[in-house]
Amino acid sequence: MKEWINKINEADSLEVLEDIRVAVLGKKGVFNAEFSKMKTVPNEEKAQFAKDLNIFKGQFASTLNFKKTELQTLALEQKLKEEKIDVSMFSKKAENGSLHPVMQTMDRIVEYFESMNFSVKTGPMIEDDFHNFEALNLPKYHPARDMQDTFYFADEKLLRTHTSPVQIRTMLKEKPPIRMIAPGAVFRRDLDLTHTPMFHQVEGLVVDDKDKVSFANLKYILEDFLKESFGDVDVRFRPSFFPFTEPSAEVDISCIFCKGDGCRVCSHTGWLEVLGCGIVDPNVFEAVGYKDVSGYAFGLGVERFAMLIHHIGDLRSLFEGDVRLLEQFQ
Ligand code: DAH
Repeated sequence: MKEWINKINEADSLEVLEDIRVAVLGKKGVFNAEFSKMKTVPNEEKAQFAKDLNIFKGQFASTLNFKKTELQTLALEQKLKEEKIDVSMFSKKAENGSLHPVMQTMDRIVEYFESMNFSVKTGPMIEDDFHNFEALNLPKYHPARDMQDTFYFADEKLLRTHTSPVQIRTMLKEKPPIRMIAPGAVFRRDLDLTHTPMFHQVEGLVVDDKDKVSFANLKYILEDFLKESFGDVDVRFRPSFFPFTEPSAEVDISCIFCKGDGCRVCSHTGWLEVLGCGIVDPNVFEAVGYKDVSGYAFGLGVERFAMLIHHIGDLRSLFEGDVRLLEQFQ
């Protein structure tokens, strides 16, 4: 029986200790086996036999408990040692976040116009009919409203379809001269390879005294801006129509992929359309109560710029949040 006490002392883990406990104190253990010998022990020796057994049981239990505490302490120390944090160690490199390519492009555009003394204006994304349409010379039932398939709320409010309403809000608040851009998100009911329900525009507006702002001024700034954005491209102004400008033009750059020879991206025309512009229609000035002024305006889609600059084929991929795409823009 003594050897069990020795075994406890030699145990090197809590598992081994538990095995010893079961082997001795378990139902079929050594202790019960020993105790069952009682019936064969001569009567006069029974008392001593039982006493010895109980002494052994007491010794065994206290040795076991002592060893158990010791092993538990050891296990805890071991665990603490293994899990210790070495604060002086080099850590795994942290992942860098970065600006979304559309925001990077927006920032570049804004930076250019700020350098040309334009101030940056913002307006609400939830607009009303007056600011988004009416004051911009798009009266009710004007066919051009269809071009801007609109998200309406129940209370006649709507999600702005362009950043042009910021022109109106600024002119209603401030006196001319005005030299502003309005970057921001806009919304239309549209979804395909080149359209998403939310996208970004930058609107521009310059207003000064009558005859002080001309198409030549507009042409100069946009040509300079487009060369700054796309490098050494040809720029062409094509007559077009917008309700808020007259005359109006759409502006093309020579295709940056084929240098004007014709390719898939430019539909073999050699040209890429990049913005709309024109001389502010007198009806717009009338809507905001401006008299004896002249002005020009322009508007562009930021995603289109980003796609051209970074050669991105599917507009929707910009909004899928795929890290494999986004991490290329750090
Ligand atoms: N608001 C137009 C659109 O969303 C863009 C635009 C075109 C703005 C011509 C202008 C402009 O100020 O002169 O398609």
